[in-house]
Amino acid sequence: MKALRWYDSRDVRMEDAPDPRISDPKDAILRVTSTSICGSDLHLYDGFVATLEKGDILGHEFMGEVMEVGAAVKSVRPGDRVVVAFPVSCGECVYCQKGQFSLCHNSNPNKDLQHKFLGNHTAAIYGYSHMFGGLPGGQAQFVRVPYADIGMLKVPSALPDEKVLFLSDIFPTGYNAAENCDLKGGETVAVWGCGPVGQFSIRSAFLLGAERVIAIDHVPERLEMAKKAGAITLNFDEVKVHDQLMEMTRGHGPDACIDAVGMEAHEGGFIGMYDKIKQVARLQTDRPFVLRQAIMACRKGGVVSVMGAYGGFGDKIPLGAMFNKALTIRQCQAHVQKYWHKLLDMVESGAIDPSFVVSHRMPLSETVEGYKMFLEKRDGCTKIVLKP
Ligand SMILES: NC(=O)c1ccc[n+]([C@@H]2O[C@H](COP(=O)([O-])OP(=O)(O)OC[C@H]3O[C@@H](n4cnc5c(N)ncnc54)[C@H](O)[C@@H]3O)[C@@H](O)[C@H]2O)c1
Ligand SMILES: [Zn+2]
Ligand SMILES: [Zn+2]
Repeated sequence: MKALRWYDSRDVRMEDAPDPRISDPKDAILRVTSTSICGSDLHLYDGFVATLEKGDILGHEFMGEVMEVGAAVKSVRPGDRVVVAFPVSCGECVYCQKGQFSLCHNSNPNKDLQHKFLGNHTAAIYGYSHMFGGLPGGQAQFVRVPYADIGMLKVPSALPDEKVLFLSDIFPTGYNAAENCDLKGGETVAVWGCGPVGQFSIRSAFLLGAERVIAIDHVPERLEMAKKAGAITLNFDEVKVHDQLMEMTRGHGPDACIDAVGMEAHEGGFIGMYDKIKQVARLQTDRPFVLRQAIMACRKGGVVSVMGAYGGFGDKIPLGAMFNKALTIRQCQAHVQKYWHKLLDMVESGAIDPSFVVSHRMPLSETVEGYKMFLEKRDGCTKIVLKP
């Protein structure tokens, strides 16, 4: 089969790879009909995630048709059309039972590798390095799905791929980001990053009762997309974000702050340069500029909801502000399977159409070009759907 394989920083190739096979009775084999590139893939592409190996197949947002199932699979059959959740979850451990699917205690075959980085292990994630399980990803024609009963969601044939594909990741991720803000109704929520995760965070914050959402980025068409959802936008190249947020909230700061940017935040000034140098010199793995800004801006007693991905270590996190302002910091790899039934209902009822985020469609054979375009945010690229 054809698959997108990682070789080095900024070096991914579309190549032949072995067809996947059932290796456990709970597995299923999927023929991919649509897949996409996530902001998290860019961290791999840029070389900021440890334990990738040459030839690894990337991709964790995908859907398709079930081709084959193992003897123990009960809820899906060959021919079913399904979306796959990016965290691989067993459904039985204490974490899965609590709905914390991305913390699954059983799905990661490379537990020890992760202990060195995280002090414990979390769920495996498709195509996301060996410490996350070393599983081949879904930017491919076929993929093996372990724990298929938990990781596959059947979708109605009436809904086209583009309306349901993002149940694999970015829609539940944005929803999880907003839910973590503990909204009661009437709040002001600031969202850093108007990429796909930010877009779904903005819409989810409104769905969960926010009165006002302030969206921050500097890519014009992404800010425009945020505006269409009803957000007030701030271009961080044009205004002092902290001062502006304070002014808009009469000196209090937003009730909740969502970081939908993560480890590769941009900042043009001295502090941005400081972060970049330390990251390149491996003195820190992450550039936590947005996290710092969110902590500093958040209202006293408020919530900072971190959905942008962090991988290792960051410098100069304002612990004093976190502590003295009594902030709640919440974060996770999204617990996709906790939300996807509810969100599928919303798509079916027409309450939201997730395909608004798609800017480009390409054949799978052009995935390498897709990575470049998505990284550079070129040609108004917000989200690419790839068709094998
Ligand atoms: N927690 C999860 O489960 C989960 C799931 C999916 C993605 N993610 C993470 O979410 C983040 C966003 O993903 P995406 O697909 O939207 O990526 P993306 O790269 O398309 O979007 C990131 C956006 O952040 C903006 N940005 C950069 N610096 C900024 C700053 N200083 N202030 C405000 N905005 C800034 C960029 O211009 C860009 O539009 C990534 O870190 C990704 O790894 C996490
Ligand atoms: Zn993702
Ligand atoms: Zn589990």
